[in-house]
Amino acid sequence: MAGYTRHDYDVLVIGAGGAGLRAAIEAASAGVSVGLICKSLLGKAHTVMAEGGIAAALANVDDRDSWKVHFADTMRGGQYVNNWRMAEIHAREAPDRVRELEAWGAVFDRTTDGRILQRNFGGHRYPRLAHVGDRTGLELIRTLQDHTVHAGVTVHMECTIVDLTTEDGRVTGAFGYERERGRFMLFGARAVILATGGIGRAYRITSNSWEGTGDGHALAYRAGASLIDMEFVQFHPTGMVWPPSVQGILVTEGVRGEGGVLRNSTGERFMFGDIPDNYKKQTADNEEEGWRYTQGDKNARRPPELLTRDHVARCINRELKAGRGSPHGGVFLDISWIKERLPNAEDHIKRKLPSMYHQFKQLADIDITREAMEVGPTTHYIMGGVQVDADSQMSTIEGLFAAGECASGINGANRLGGNSLSDIVVFGKRAGEHAAQYARGHAAGQVSEPQIEAITRTALAPFDRGADAEIPYKVQQELQATMQDLVGIVRTDGEMREALGRLADYNARAERVGVTGHREYHSGWHTALDLRNLLTVSEAITRSAIERAESRGGHFRDDFPAQQSEWGKHNVKVERADDGTMKVTRIPIPPMPDELKQVIEEMK
Ligand code: FUM
Repeated sequence: MAGYTRHDYDVLVIGAGGAGLRAAIEAASAGVSVGLICKSLLGKAHTVMAEGGIAAALANVDDRDSWKVHFADTMRGGQYVNNWRMAEIHAREAPDRVRELEAWGAVFDRTTDGRILQRNFGGHRYPRLAHVGDRTGLELIRTLQDHTVHAGVTVHMECTIVDLTTEDGRVTGAFGYERERGRFMLFGARAVILATGGIGRAYRITSNSWEGTGDGHALAYRAGASLIDMEFVQFHPTGMVWPPSVQGILVTEGVRGEGGVLRNSTGERFMFGDIPDNYKKQTADNEEEGWRYTQGDKNARRPPELLTRDHVARCINRELKAGRGSPHGGVFLDISWIKERLPNAEDHIKRKLPSMYHQFKQLADIDITREAMEVGPTTHYIMGGVQVDADSQMSTIEGLFAAGECASGINGANRLGGNSLSDIVVFGKRAGEHAAQYARGHAAGQVSEPQIEAITRTALAPFDRGADAEIPYKVQQELQATMQDLVGIVRTDGEMREALGRLADYNARAERVGVTGHREYHSGWHTALDLRNLLTVSEAITRSAIERAESRGGHFRDDFPAQQSEWGKHNVKVERADDGTMKVTRIPIPPMPDELKQVIEEMK
C-alpha cells in the first residue's frame, strides 16, 4: 500500500473560502485543535466572486429595513421552498456578522456620516449590500484569512481530499493528497466541516475557477449523507462573453445596482417588457423612476434590471434565442449612459466599480465608462447541497457538518445576490461552534486500514490503465458541454433524459480514464479524480431536475413552465442507495411557524 502521513485534529475544515475560514476561527476560539484544508492557495476562493456586497439589514441607507424584510425577501427570492429556519437565522444574525468583520478590519465603503454604506441588488427591497467597491468578497477573505492565521489553525494548502472516512455512521476523518508532490495524507478528526463551495465546473460556461468541482457535495454523498435542492442551479445573468478565453467571468450585479441597464441589439431595454405580476408593485415601468431609485429616492420603484437573477437570466436567454443578441452572443450592459445624468460619471464608475473597469479594460479592451459591455448568463452558484440541521449545520451523518455553498437550505429555489457572503459568515460561525462542541463530547473514531487501502486504490487507479485509456480532460469537456446544453437555464424532460444517458456513458468512461508518469505536479491525475465528483453532482442535478416537474426559481422547465403549488411543499432529496445507485425522493417541507408566516404577510 502507498505510504501516507497522518495528522489528527479535533475539527477538520475542508475548504478555505469564507465559510471554511469563519468555521475554523470559531472552532479554534472554542479551544479545540483545528486543521484547515485548502485545495489551492490560501486566499484564493470563489468567495471573491461575490463582488458586489454582503447582504445584511443594517438599515444604514434606508431605515425601513429590518431582519423581517430581509427574511421575507429571501423567502420570496427562494420561492418559498427555503429552509425557513435557516432564512430566519440568516436574516437575524447577518448584521452582527458584518459588524464583526468591520471590527476585524474589513474596510467597507462609507455613508457620508461614516456608517457602512449599502447598495441595491436584485430582489432586496432596500439598499442592503454592505460593500467594498466591487471587491467585497476579496476584502472578506483578506479579513478572515488574517484572523485565521492568528487563531492557531493549521493550514494545509494545495491539498485535495479524495474521500471521507467513516465508522458506524459517523465521520472519522478524511484522506487526500498534496497536489504538488502527490503524497497521501490521512486526517483523523472528531468532527469534519465541509466548506468546499460549488459545482460550477460541471458546466462549460461558469464564473467558478478550477476548484469548483462539487467536492464537498460528492464527498458527503459517498459518505452516505443526503443532498437536497440539487435542481436549483443559479445562472448569474451577467458574465463576460468575449473574448472566448474569459467567457463566464463574473460581471458584478453591482453594475446594475449602480444604474447599469440591459439592452438588446435594437437598443431596447428589454427588461421593461417582462415584469412578473408579483413584482409589479415594486418595479419601475419607466427609465426615469428606475434611475431615481438607483440614486436613493425612497419613493421610487427599482429598475427591472434588479429583478431576481433567475428571471433576468431567462430574459437574456430569450433575447439571444430571438436573435437580438450582441455581436459575440450576449446582450449589452451599459453603465456609461449615466454620463447623461451625472456630471462626474467617469470618476463615479471607476470608484464604485474599480474591478469591472480594469477587468474590461485589460481583458476585452473595453472602457466601461464610455462603452457598453457584452454579457450573458454564467453558471455561478448552486442552491442545493448537503442537507443540514438549520441551527447546528450537522448533516445526516454524525459529526459531519457543512456550511456555505456546499450546504443547502437557506436559498430555496434561487439565491439573492449578496446572501452568499452573509450565509458563509453566519453559518460558517455556527458550523465551527457546533463542530467544536461535538468534538469535545466525542472521542476520536477509528480509521481502518481497509478503508485507507480502498481510497488509495481508487486514487491510484488512473495510473494502472495504460496509455490507451480514456483522456480525463476529454471526458470532462464532454460532460461540461452536456450539462450546459441539456441541463442549463431552460430544461425539458427529453433533453435531461438524454443527458442522463450520456452521464452513464461518461461514468463508464471515467472508470477507464488513465494517466501516465508519476504523481508529482500531475494535473491530468487531478482531473481524473475531480471527474468522479463532477459526475456525481451532474447526475444529482439532472435527476432532481427531472423529478421537479414544474418551474421555480433557478429551475425552469419548458415543458412545465408554471409553478405548481403542490411542489411548493416539497424539497427533492438525493441519497446513495444500498446498491450504489442514486436515489431521488421528495421530502415534505416542515410547516412554517405562525410568527414567520405573519412576517411574510406583513411584508407583502
Ligand atoms: O454579482 C455579484 O457581485 C455576485 C454576488 C453574489 O453572488 O452574491
